[in-house]
Amino acid sequence: MTGIAGKHVLLIVTGGIAAYKALELTRLIQKAGGTVQPILTRAATEFVTPLSIGTLAGHAALTELFDLTREAEIGHIELSRSADLIVVAPASADFLAKMAQGHADDLASTTVLATDTEIMIAPAMNVRMWEAPATRRNVAQLRSDGVHVVGPDEGDMACGEFGPGRMAEPQAILEAITAHFDAKAARGRLKGLKAVVTSGPTREWIDPVRYISNESSGRQGTAIAKALIAEGAEVVFVTGPAKAPRPAGCRIIEVETALEMDAAVQDALPADFAVCVAAVADWRMAEAHDQKLKKTPDGTPPTLELTANPDILAGLSQGDQRPRLVIGFAAETENLEANAARKRKTKGCDWILANDVSAQSGTFGGPENSVILLTESGAEPWPSLPKSKVGHRLAARIASHFGR
Ligand code: PMT
Repeated sequence: MTGIAGKHVLLIVTGGIAAYKALELTRLIQKAGGTVQPILTRAATEFVTPLSIGTLAGHAALTELFDLTREAEIGHIELSRSADLIVVAPASADFLAKMAQGHADDLASTTVLATDTEIMIAPAMNVRMWEAPATRRNVAQLRSDGVHVVGPDEGDMACGEFGPGRMAEPQAILEAITAHFDAKAARGRLKGLKAVVTSGPTREWIDPVRYISNESSGRQGTAIAKALIAEGAEVVFVTGPAKAPRPAGCRIIEVETALEMDAAVQDALPADFAVCVAAVADWRMAEAHDQKLKKTPDGTPPTLELTANPDILAGLSQGDQRPRLVIGFAAETENLEANAARKRKTKGCDWILANDVSAQSGTFGGPENSVILLTESGAEPWPSLPKSKVGHRLAARIASHFGR
């Protein structure tokens, strides 16, 4: 997949007469197959309404940093990292200054400061402001920080002056975004390799209203999939009912049970490598109950008879269509390294990432993970890292394994 298709763009609109062009940019990105999450600064809302751009984008426009409902669903840090690219269009002189200085006093500035996603800006301001030494310094700083700059164009300005400062046309910004994604995919060290990634929990039904599951949020699996996609891999993402937003730019297969996950993984083969991050339930009900289990008159609880689920990782490692590299995770609450080493051997995978999932670790559902990578050559402890960084580090290891 190339260009914008399947990519998620966080579009930050700051205050300025060019803000109306953000509507057209939203439409163009969507037409090219991407999705847009708009964020408006307070000044931007004087020029475009959150309702108009939110309706066009199909995602409510966000304006407030302390929106508690949203924080509960997806925190601003996660929001900043869930995108494939952050585009600031138009980027006002004031917003450029805030970015260059690292200010974080509203949702838009906090998002760009907290992100590890690449940022593209389309400046728009009066010609004197654009040529002011302070703006030049800020833009130079942003370029050296790795921010991509599109425009500005030269022409007649809303203030009646002529010169550089007009925001690049939406079509030109779209072309810059497309070129950015194309270049990234071409640079990708995993280009030409196909990966299967499992993620999230599975759900094993006891009866129509109760199930056995766990607290896996899918954040780690999603972060790994995103890192692999960013490196150009073709990813099939098989996920249980997880809270994390799905990664863009890959094939997604939604499943509920371990049996469904197993079948989806087998269907996705052949693949060059597999990463099993899913917290798969080891057992399911021996016999599914069609109707809700009733309390007995004497209060005796029912006996739940369980049966083993297929081990998806072991099946991949020992199957006829074994990927060239099979990677598992080992979720442990005690004897971390020893238990993980044993799992690597018994399941037959090449690498296993051991992680402590004891209650105090916060690994399940949390933003960070602390893992020990176990390979044939030994154990390599990684520092505690944001799950996105674990993904990038693993992707880099996979690339070097394949000699990329
Ligand atoms: O989703 P998050 O909230 O971000 O949390 C991430 C995580 C803690 C779920 C993740 O980092 C993790 O540790 N995943 C593995 C969870 C697990 O089920 O571990 P396990 O030790 O029980 O299983 C070992 C390996 O076998 C895992 O790769 C698992 O995917 C796989 N397995 C287990 C059972 C089974 N029936 N089939 C499997 O494929």
